[in-house]
Amino acid sequence: QEAALQGRFQERVDAEEKIEPRDWMPEGYRRTLVRQISQHAHSEIVGMLPEGNWITRAPSLRRKVALLAKVQDEGGHGLYLYSAAETLGVSRDELVGQLLSGKAKYSSIFNYPTPTWADIGAIGWLVDGAAIMNQVPLCRCSYGPYARAMVRICREESFHQRQGYELMLALAQGTAEQKRMAQDALNRWWWPSLMMFGPSDDQSAHSAQNMAWKIKRFSNDELRQRFVDATVPQAEFLGLTIPDPELRFNAETGHYEFGAIDWTEFNEILKGNGPCNRERIEARRKAWDDGAWVREAAVAHAAKRQQRALK
Ligand code: ACO
Repeated sequence: QEAALQGRFQERVDAEEKIEPRDWMPEGYRRTLVRQISQHAHSEIVGMLPEGNWITRAPSLRRKVALLAKVQDEGGHGLYLYSAAETLGVSRDELVGQLLSGKAKYSSIFNYPTPTWADIGAIGWLVDGAAIMNQVPLCRCSYGPYARAMVRICREESFHQRQGYELMLALAQGTAEQKRMAQDALNRWWWPSLMMFGPSDDQSAHSAQNMAWKIKRFSNDELRQRFVDATVPQAEFLGLTIPDPELRFNAETGHYEFGAIDWTEFNEILKGNGPCNRERIEARRKAWDDGAWVREAAVAHAAKRQQRALK
């Protein structure tokens, strides 16, 4: 009977029907979605930290309003994604517990520091640019609640990417010192942005199954290549240099070829040894502990309301 259910499930996926929370699904499908969606939610929440760092020091009111809105959007994305994960039968407390204990991953990219204002531009342009490349196909993910959450998230990410590129443009067209800052930020964020797409296809444990389940539509390497092809001309327009001496356009394939990624650096970050891993988790633990009174107050309020309703 299990085999018949599996067969029917795969037929529905192949026919591009959306799978909804109450539908039958293989345990592996449920598990992989909980893993991916919660990792994604944690990334949004941890991703508020490197940029939140600059809200009080934004150079103008206009920049401050944009950055504030962007960081707030990321908090919202985290919440939609936790809700999407909850439809699969896990609680938010459990998911947050996995983040704080170090059991759950979040994107490698948020373990790098943001020492200058240009980092805010580079994050919007490159990190959000990479996120869009990876996330637009997720709007067609086979799991309905995830796919629907991604539609709004991608629209907001697109605004984030534009504000980042516009910020980089202002710096690149500014004083020599501003241009130097922009180049320095590109130098530091380029390779980590390429790593965001995950290990190369031959090392990617989950890709084949996730593609068969239509959770993923394109492989890690395909999306990474698309990102490079889209971003190199943008760097040229800014008058900045991509920090890769091996980067060249192949007229025959129509793609940019690029140098080797340092997977040792990526793996160290995944093990918790990146420049800011400890700081990020400490900040999330502190937020959780400092927020205890809010959770307690909310529970007490709900209990009071319930009592009143019973009277
Ligand atoms: N950072 C941290 N961990 C990563 C990263 C990364 N950049 N890329 C891959 N991994 C992890 C995977 O989670 C997996 O670990 P696990 O088995 O312990 O869970 C392992 O490396 C192997 O990778 P894959 O087999 O390629 O994993 P998967 O098929 O899930 O693909 C990917 C990884 C592309 C990140 C996928 O999960 C995905 O598309 N996720 C949704 C998007 C997302 O999470 N974006 C977060 C950053 S964007 C933002 O928040 C602005």
